[in-house]
Amino acid sequence: MAQIPKVATARARRQHYRENLLIGFDALAELYYAYWGEFFHLAVFEPGDDPADLAAAYQRTHQRYLAAIGGAAARRILDVACGGGALSAWLADHTTAAVVGVDLSAGQLAHARRWVAGGRRPNLWFVQHDVMHLDDLVASQFQTPFDAAICLDAACYLPDRRAALRAIAARLRPGGRLLLVDWCRAERPTALQRELILEPLCRYWAIADLETAAGYRRSFAAAGLRIHRLDDLSDQVVPNWERGYQAALRALDEPIRLGELLRLAAGAVKHGGVVLQAAKDQFQVALLAKAAAESGILRYVSVLAERT
Ligand SMILES: C[S@@+](CC[C@H](N)C(=O)[O-])C[C@H]1O[C@@H](n2cnc3c(N)ncnc32)[C@H](O)[C@@H]1O
Repeated sequence: MAQIPKVATARARRQHYRENLLIGFDALAELYYAYWGEFFHLAVFEPGDDPADLAAAYQRTHQRYLAAIGGAAARRILDVACGGGALSAWLADHTTAAVVGVDLSAGQLAHARRWVAGGRRPNLWFVQHDVMHLDDLVASQFQTPFDAAICLDAACYLPDRRAALRAIAARLRPGGRLLLVDWCRAERPTALQRELILEPLCRYWAIADLETAAGYRRSFAAAGLRIHRLDDLSDQVVPNWERGYQAALRALDEPIRLGELLRLAAGAVKHGGVVLQAAKDQFQVALLAKAAAESGILRYVSVLAERT
């Protein structure tokens, strides 16, 4: 999205986060699912895991996340910025909890609603809403506080993470848990790493800026969330970057499929020609993300906390 003025500076990205989300996550939704897969977060690999067995890694990752938020004790779970809803559906299938997924993107939620089509999964709901304004939600699913919330690979897009954390905390019961996993940056990247890797990456992703682990420690405390553990998972997600890179190469190698072309054209009609540029930019993103991860400046951080 480099040519789009609404992503030119961190300030513009913060100010126009909703419009940028419409392009990145609404218009390109199906493209992401075709090339990346259903889970729009990274699989965490344990030592000895087969890096090629993605399905097994995701299964273990989700089991680990569910255990972190309390396992069977979590009777009501909020999936914050749930995207296409695959994790919400996984949680609904592996618990008897009521699971509510919230996302602002209509494109992502259209995908998510397939998980509940035909009355399947009566313990799963999806609600369209801005995470920055979780306090506005009056839907029946929000009348009772949640035992747990999970937010994967999404907080980086929020224009004011501290305010969002406060809003999420307010939806939890006292003692309720939040597991947040996010792309962060290293504490002290060099000036060139900032200029040549982090800044373009943020621009392409329409992210104002990336948090640091220390920044999260401060924001969680300010939001009334006591941290149980903070883990840097970067070394355990390495196979994902290669996967993204290979998927990007494959996308260029294949003839464009008619269905994808039509979807992009529909997106362009609705949101303007920037959609086509944004789709092409995803190739640069894959290169930059791999470089950022391999140089150690992009970190994948998990924070488990409890509402005080
Ligand atoms: C990379 S996807 C992750 C989706 C999901 N958590 C997963 O792991 O599969 C990021 C999601 O954050 C959502 N998002 C970003 N900003 C948001 C906001 N302000 N309110 C609600 N959703 C938002 C996007 O629409 C997108 O679906």
